[in-house]
Formats: sequence, structure tokens, C-alpha cells
Amino acid sequence: MEMNLRSRAEELAAQLTLEEKIGMIHGAELFATKGVERLGILPLRMSDSTMGVRQDFEPDSWQPMADSGDFVTYLPCCSGLAATWNRDLAYETGSVLGAEARGRGKDVILGPGINIKRSPLCGRNFEYFSEDPYLTGELAAPFIRGVQQWDVAACVKHFAANNQETERLWVDVDVDEDVLRRVYLPAFYKAVRAGGALTVMGAYNRIYGEHCCQSDFLLRKILREEWGYDGVVISDWGGVHDTELAAKSQLDIEMSVTSDFDEYKMAEPLRKLIDKGEIPERVVDEKVVRILMLMMRLHMMDGRRKRGCYDTEGHRQTVLRAARESVVLLKNDKGILPLDPEKCKRILVVGENGDCTHAGGGGSGEIKALYEITPLLGIRKLLGGNCRVDYAAGYCRDGGIESKDREAVSGGTDFSGGDNDGKKTDGTAGGVKQPVNWQAASLENGGGSVKHVEVDEAARRRRRRLRKEAVELAGSSVYDQVIFVGGLNHDQDSEGNDRPDMKLPYEQDELICELLKARPDMVTVLLGGSPVEMGRWIDRADSLIWCWYGGMEGGTALAEVLFGEVNPSGKLPESFYKTHMDCSAHCMGEFPGTDRVRYGEGMFVGYRYLDTFEVEPRFCFGHGLSYTEFAYGKAELEVEKNQETDMEAGTYAERRNIFAVCEITNIGNRTGKETVQVYLRQRENDKKEPYQALAGFEKVELKPGETKKVRIRVEGQLSDKEVAVGSSSRDIRTIVNDHGILREEMKK
Ligand code: BGC
Repeated sequence: MEMNLRSRAEELAAQLTLEEKIGMIHGAELFATKGVERLGILPLRMSDSTMGVRQDFEPDSWQPMADSGDFVTYLPCCSGLAATWNRDLAYETGSVLGAEARGRGKDVILGPGINIKRSPLCGRNFEYFSEDPYLTGELAAPFIRGVQQWDVAACVKHFAANNQETERLWVDVDVDEDVLRRVYLPAFYKAVRAGGALTVMGAYNRIYGEHCCQSDFLLRKILREEWGYDGVVISDWGGVHDTELAAKSQLDIEMSVTSDFDEYKMAEPLRKLIDKGEIPERVVDEKVVRILMLMMRLHMMDGRRKRGCYDTEGHRQTVLRAARESVVLLKNDKGILPLDPEKCKRILVVGENGDCTHAGGGGSGEIKALYEITPLLGIRKLLGGNCRVDYAAGYCRDGGIESKDREAVSGGTDFSGGDNDGKKTDGTAGGVKQPVNWQAASLENGGGSVKHVEVDEAARRRRRRLRKEAVELAGSSVYDQVIFVGGLNHDQDSEGNDRPDMKLPYEQDELICELLKARPDMVTVLLGGSPVEMGRWIDRADSLIWCWYGGMEGGTALAEVLFGEVNPSGKLPESFYKTHMDCSAHCMGEFPGTDRVRYGEGMFVGYRYLDTFEVEPRFCFGHGLSYTEFAYGKAELEVEKNQETDMEAGTYAERRNIFAVCEITNIGNRTGKETVQVYLRQRENDKKEPYQALAGFEKVELKPGETKKVRIRVEGQLSDKEVAVGSSSRDIRTIVNDHGILREEMKK
């Protein structure tokens, strides 16, 4: 079948002229290649990204199409999806994206982003899943399968080691090959092997001196030769720098942000070199064959293609379910949560994020959401007419200075013209109109920088006033409950920027401190794509909820968790450090590099560092509370005998099938979901290797009093390791260390 596919593609390719073939391997529009009409070959149409299908642009300028047909379903960001730890939901959410992409007439959706979160300061972390390669791969693979069942290709990005925005076009990543293979590549391996990703996007940065989009090492040696990949490799937009290198590399399609399409490296310049005999035409043939195979796999030529659909009620239900499971209850010391709606006659919501939409910001991840339920709206629509919900902004973002900053490099097209229904939208700094073409300028300045925000005196004065108002209101005796909703927005979580530190912006620390003084029982909710410092107030906050960019129903989900209609089940897919200096990229390695960045922390990324060197995080990897409690029985190991094992590709492959089996009981009085996590742990912490690493997980739902036996496949090598089973990386409930028995089993 697949052989047949290749020979059919080769036959078709043989009928093409050089000019036609060249047209297929580079952008002829900002988001499409050229087709060959006489042979029924269509252009390949692409669109960003993972939170939904992006708005349409003019073919040759970054001017949004004057079209209202591109409002779409807004999905939770990848970090939020990762916090669900739910493979089925990842599949279903992927399926929503695939259906919408196809429904909008796309062939390739430029996502998911699966780079490892090396530092909490990387501006695009919200587009990525986790600091952990196993968790990333386990969720990305079903997500991709979900997308691709709609005859649309996923495009996993950015291959590889694209872990910072600063100087992203040039920074040369200096990472030990062993570390690259064990930390930064496994999720890509799983995405293409288990997920079957039909396309891969090369990263902007360099690795070992070569630009990723034309790297022989990454694209030929690893992707094609070791992983046997025959899908299509697409460059990031403007990631190709040299005609000969790109042509001879395993890159298939060059895309960029400029409209001089004939001048792209793999356009006229390549044709000239072929004419002169300096590059053999067969390098182009190979690319075209792979592109045609992709088109056949997507049924682009046989009339059997699914038509997709978008903005359906079903899609909204799915993204609501994903949003619910993404909410992480970080703290609930006095059991204030869930709130009782019957006891709330009047409540106060404070904080700009309470009443702010985010879909339109962040860079290429921006979308035109059909709608977006804010936390305030979510709360109001849940409580209905028996409760009066007041709102006070409490803080505001900076004004003009930030927007000037943004013009240079960072993302955030303002499709709404500044205000959306009179509401502040993200991607607009305080309602100031943004340039529409940030992406046209995105190849300047090395592609990105650390964003330092200068003091904006006018904004400060405004904040002081807002803070005073909010604190006074919170302290008045009329409110049954005060809820603060703050955190980050896409001024921080954005393509083209890295954050300088983890501090909460806009003087929110001061505000939270004062609010807590006025209302010690205040519920604190933070929203964002990456962790923030909490040291100034965390000990005084009894309850804390973390939300991500939760998609169009994010506010609904949050309200349901606050008022107990949904029992929270999200778990952190990354470490929440106290400060960024507790992160190994900063204290052992370099971040951000400029010309070159040394990953001096080696394997010790995220909790692998914290747990090995006994550094206390604010909240650990895998942490997340529930309104009920779960008891763990004693774990046992099962070895599956006579099982075919996949020995190829060395470190990526699972060598034998071992399962950790454990009974979990819901000992509280609410139905809830628990994610049972399995870590492979060293017996002694020798500090030469990470002390522990995630090797399996399952999410189970249990009614009060119910017990279920959970069987979790343990991925990785077990020799001399213990299997630790628990509720988070630091809440291990049971350890299996009877290796005698296991060794005997394995000898058989
Ligand atoms: C981003 C990619 C995106 C592409 C197309 C680039 O700036 O890095 O993630 O898919 O633009 O918009």
C-alpha cells in the first residue's frame, strides 16, 4: 500500500516540469504553495496553530482578509491540555482542531508545539505542553491522531531545541547529543512514530552551528535515517538561509513571511543553480515525491476527502470538557473551596484577567474566537439572578510603552481594532491599536528578545487608583466572597518575547497583599501560560487556583470549579519554581543565550533538577488537588512475557512491557478524578543522573468509596531503579522495590 503510494507519487512527479516542481517546494502565498492545475495538483494550504485555526490573510500581505467566515472554536492552549493529563481528551481536542482546519479548507495545521519547557521564561511556553518529554509525547501523539483523522496534516513544531525566543533566528544551541536525544527529541519521536505526524516544522534556531531547517544532522541523520520518517518537512517562516544547504537537506517546503516569493531560497535561486548544473534536479524530485505522498495521504486528489466542519456545538462541548480538566487547584488549606452558591448573595471579582479575553494575542497562536467566556461572565452565568456579582479591575496593564515594544518583534495581530465589545482584549495593550503586520517584521532583530517593560508613570497612577478602589470594596462588609483573578496575558506569554523574570506584572503582588489583608478568605485565581513568583503572599492565601489560556469556555470551567459543579482534576505539567533562579537553565546553564546558548544543566531539566539537588519548588511537577481524597494501596509490578519488543532507536524505545498495578480508593465524599503517576527512581541519588523521571500515568474517575485497580505501563529501563507511584512527583504513596522477583522474571 505504502510502496504503491510512493510509486504513484513518483509517476506523477515524473510528469512535472522543473518550474512546476519548484512551485511546489516553496511558498507562493504566505500560507500556501503553488499547485499544478493541468495535473489536478492543488496548492498546499496551511494555517496556524494549536488553539484554533487562525484568521485568513491576504495571499501576499499580512493584511487580514476582510472575512467574517474565520471566527472559530478556541481551544485551551497546549499547557492547559497538558494539565489535563488525559490522553482521550487530547485526542478529542485534536479532533476538534482537525475538523475545524478541514472545515476552513486547510491541508496542514501548524501545530502542535511540542518543545520542552527548559525555562519558565520562554515566551512561547503556553504553546508547548510540558518540561517533561514523556508527558509531552504521550499527549501530543493522540492529539495528532485526532487532528489527522480529518484528512488534515498536523505539523509538529519546532524541530528542535527551540527553547527561547531571544535571538531565535540565530541562536546556536550547544546541547550534549545525549541530552538532546533524551530530553529534547523523544516527544518528536513519539509525535512522528506513535502520532504519525504527517509534517514537521523545522525550528528557527541553529544547533551545532547548522540552522535546524537545513540541518543535515537533524533532518537527514535523525529524522529520516534513524526514525524512518517519510513525511514532509516545512521550514518555519523565514527559517531558510542558504539555497544549496536547504536544497540538499531533507527540508521539503520553504515558507517565509515576505511576499517576494520568487526570491525564496528554494525558488528562483534554486532553479538557477540547477540550470547551471550545480545542484542535481533529483534533490527537488525527492521533495516533490514526498509532498505528493502527503497529498495522497490526505486524499487531496482522489475525491474521497472528509469535508470537516467548524464552530459546531459539539466542538464547544469538547473544549469545555478540556478546559474543566485543565484547571489546577494548587492550594485549599482551609477548605474554602468549593464555594457554596446558596451562600453567595453578593460577591466581588477583582482583577483585569477577570474580565479580559485572550484569544487574539500571543503571536502566530492568535485566533478569532467565535466567543470567549471570561471568568467574570462564567461566574455570572453560573450564579444567575440570586447573586449580585460586582467587578473591580484592581490593576491595569501598561499603555503606550508596551505597544511600542511590540512593534519591533512580538506577536499579536489586532483584528478587532482595539476593543472587542468594549472589552479589553489581549494583543492590544490597554486598547491601543497594534500594528497589523508584526509578523512581516518578525525576521528583524534576531527574531526576538527579552522584553523589559519600562516604568509607565501614567499606568502606575491609574493602578494606584484602581488598587485603592478594589481594596476598599473588598474590605467593605457587603460581600460574601471576594475572588481575585489575575496573572499574565499575551503581553508576557508571547511569541518573540522572553520574560526577564517570573514576577507578576502590573503591581499585582501589592494588590494581592492588600486584598488579602482586607479579606483573608479571598480566593486567588491566576491565569497564564507559565508560572509566576508568589513569595510575597502565598503563605497568606488559603486557596489558589491556576488556569491556563483555557479556550472559549475557560471562564465557564473556572466558575464550575469555584462553585463545585466540577471537581478539579488538573495537575501541573511543569514545575512551578519559587523564582526563575531555581530553574536549572538559569542556575546551571545559560538562558537566554544570544549567539550561542549552552545547555549546561544537561539532563537536569525541570523537576529532574529540583528533585536531584533537593531544591524546593513552589508547587511541584504533577501537583494538583481535588475536592475529594484518594488513598493508594500497595503497588506491584507485572511483567508481560513473550511480548514483541521494539528495540530500535536505542533510547527512545520501550524495551519490555512492565506494568505498575495499584488500587486507588476515593475516600472523600465527592466523585473525582485522580491522575496516578509513575516515576522511575534511582535507588540512591548519585546526582549524576536525574533522581526520578515520569514513566507512566493513568487518570481514573472514582465515586465516593469506590476502588479501582489501575494498571500503568512503565516506559523505560528498569534496571537498578525503583518504581514510585503517587499523586505528584513529591507525593509518592507507594514504591515497588522488590527487584529480585523482577530480575528473575526478566531472565525468562
Ligand atoms: C512561528 C511558527 C508559525 C509560523 C507561521 C512563525 O513565526 O514561529 O510557529 O507557525 O510563524 O505563522
